Amino acid sequence: MAKPSHATWGGRFTAGPAELMLQFSESVSFDRRLAPFDVAGSKAHSAMLAHVGLITKKERDAIHAGLDAILAEIEAGKFTWETKLEDVHMNIEQALTKRVPAAAKLHTARSRNDQIATDMRLFFKHACGVVQERIRGAERALLAAAEANRDVLIPGYTHLQRAQPVYLPHHLFAWMEMLERDRARFADVAAHANWCPLGSGAIAGTTLPIDREFTAKALGFVDAKGRPQVTQNSMDTVADRDLFIEFAGACALFGVHISRIAEDLILWMSSEFKFVELPDAFCTGSSLMPQKKNPDSCELLRGKSARLQGNLHTLLTLAKGLPLTYNRDLQEDKPPVFDSFDQTAICADVLAGTLAGMTVNRERCAAAVADPALLATDVADYLVLQGVAFRDAHHAVGAIVRLAETKGVGLNELTVADVQGVHPAFKADWAEIFDLKRALAKREGTGMPGPKQVARQFARWKKLLR
Ligand code: ARG
Repeated sequence: MAKPSHATWGGRFTAGPAELMLQFSESVSFDRRLAPFDVAGSKAHSAMLAHVGLITKKERDAIHAGLDAILAEIEAGKFTWETKLEDVHMNIEQALTKRVPAAAKLHTARSRNDQIATDMRLFFKHACGVVQERIRGAERALLAAAEANRDVLIPGYTHLQRAQPVYLPHHLFAWMEMLERDRARFADVAAHANWCPLGSGAIAGTTLPIDREFTAKALGFVDAKGRPQVTQNSMDTVADRDLFIEFAGACALFGVHISRIAEDLILWMSSEFKFVELPDAFCTGSSLMPQKKNPDSCELLRGKSARLQGNLHTLLTLAKGLPLTYNRDLQEDKPPVFDSFDQTAICADVLAGTLAGMTVNRERCAAAVADPALLATDVADYLVLQGVAFRDAHHAVGAIVRLAETKGVGLNELTVADVQGVHPAFKADWAEIFDLKRALAKREGTGMPGPKQVARQFARWKKLLR
């Protein structure tokens, strides 16, 4: 038997939704977390209604007091959320209506379509701020790890083959660049969110004499000079989900970055590398093999990135092909966004914790970087400075590498006669090339791993992070 509708839209209906439909269509189980933003939006909207004379100041004050009381109840966990009231908006409005007669005027010149767009823009501004702070936490942990291992040298890799020597901080600062781009990307998303939808109504605004700029100012949708920023097309405003995709996109890219960082750490902790030891607090053991210590935090960082990409994909697919403007499909936009926010924030914290407890095995790093073949390119550069064309030098050094291999000695153990046999441009001083510190000191252009450049980067990150 159909029951009458409880919903605010129930007027034209003779029967309410089926129990199954309520269960299927409710969003309050997840959109209740928007309550603080919904209340802020309603307070600003009612302040505007009073400002233009659509409600009295007394009515505005009663609405504000009622909303404050409801939010306090929500925050104390004492508010009863009702599934049959569908979403956060109707739950709060109905609770307000029970307390405050003027609540019946709150929805004047407003629709849930511009209301949810507003709630979410407020949410994105908040979420971007939180995520930026959490990324900063990971960046600080990274800087501390770099400081503790300032003079450690490791091989840098391409194709996962030893390539050229770098200071460990140079590698860590590569991660830092990735994280800082992520942080800046969230700042950009927050700036894009900074336009007020309220006043767009369901799709075509309102005939009532509202003041959109007033509402925008009250909610902090203002530019650097304090001028209100309101969205410019009512239809786009209620249909647009770009921010959801941008936010989830920023989270997904962050996920790609932490996954790559995690992969480096997993390799570095393996017995094959053993460059680092990750903290017990972020590792787990095996239920079967007593000797095992597994880098689970890193593996999960790698795994969560799949989830962050999935959320982005959900949103892209959700939005494609929808006719303008609002369609109920769009209610499905929130779970992936909330999940991306929660997972991004905790991933940043876990990365920070893992890095903070990481110790570096200096002996293993020193042994790996002592491989003289890492300086083969420097040998070619040496020949270039003797006037040899780089292509010829490259060829000559290749021949030297092969000679060392056939003789079963390290590249640096070849005699001057050996190398001069390959190319006459080699001089007696050629073996100096294999002095690692000297080799690094020659790499002093901007962005290179030489000690002066690394020191510059230390100064840059310290300034930014402290
Ligand atoms: N719960 C809805 C959502 O998240 C709010 C907007 C509802 N609008 C509507 N016309 N039914 O999308």
